[in-house]
Amino acid sequence: MSNIVLISGSPSPNSKTASIAKRLQKKLIERNHRADWIEVRELPAEDLLYANFQSPSIANAHTLIKAADAVIVLSPVYKGSYTGILKTFLDLLPEKIFVDKIVAPVVTGGTIAHLLSIEYAFKPIFSLLGAKEILHGVFILDANVQWNAKGEVFLAKEAEERIQRSLEDLLKATERKAFPTI
Ligand SMILES: Cc1cc2nc3c(=O)[nH]c(=O)nc-3n(C[C@H](O)[C@H](O)[C@H](O)COP(=O)(O)O)c2cc1C
Repeated sequence: MSNIVLISGSPSPNSKTASIAKRLQKKLIERNHRADWIEVRELPAEDLLYANFQSPSIANAHTLIKAADAVIVLSPVYKGSYTGILKTFLDLLPEKIFVDKIVAPVVTGGTIAHLLSIEYAFKPIFSLLGAKEILHGVFILDANVQWNAKGEVFLAKEAEERIQRSLEDLLKATERKAFPTI
């Protein structure tokens, strides 16, 4: 069993990115992994905005991350990068908190033109936080994430396959980490 934390950083109440996080969390739990989801927009806004390092809610999020084998960071692209709200949260993380974690980005965007934001924006900040093993991650176009009549999210087939592959890669990496001789 792996312990995985999902961090999603969209400010939107009807977030496609958050719906992907929820779906990934469900898949992980169904496979008997521990999967905690930190939805940054649910954390106290003032603590984020004023960088309150004493915030109990944020300390709780740190505890979850510290205990995790892997972290999936999900964000929409905003102005070619991760969102401001996600940055406020990452700014409050202890230095090198990702040092022994496998980290994977899952990014949604309106245009494929910003695919490389994974390389120039997301991966450098994971690296700054100490991550040594950063997986390729996935970029999903927002047009490929839709809701059905029941309010459940569904992804276009190709996007679903890439998300699934990325999840398998993450689980294989956590297994390798737990059993290095395999
Ligand atoms: C303020 C704002 C800025 C955005 N900037 C970009 C951008 O630079 N590149 C891009 O591909 N999409 C951009 N988008 C589109 C979002 O990344 C995209 O719709 C995403 O899937 C929204 O995710 P959410 O529903 O989880 O908030 C932007 C959207 C907003 C609201």
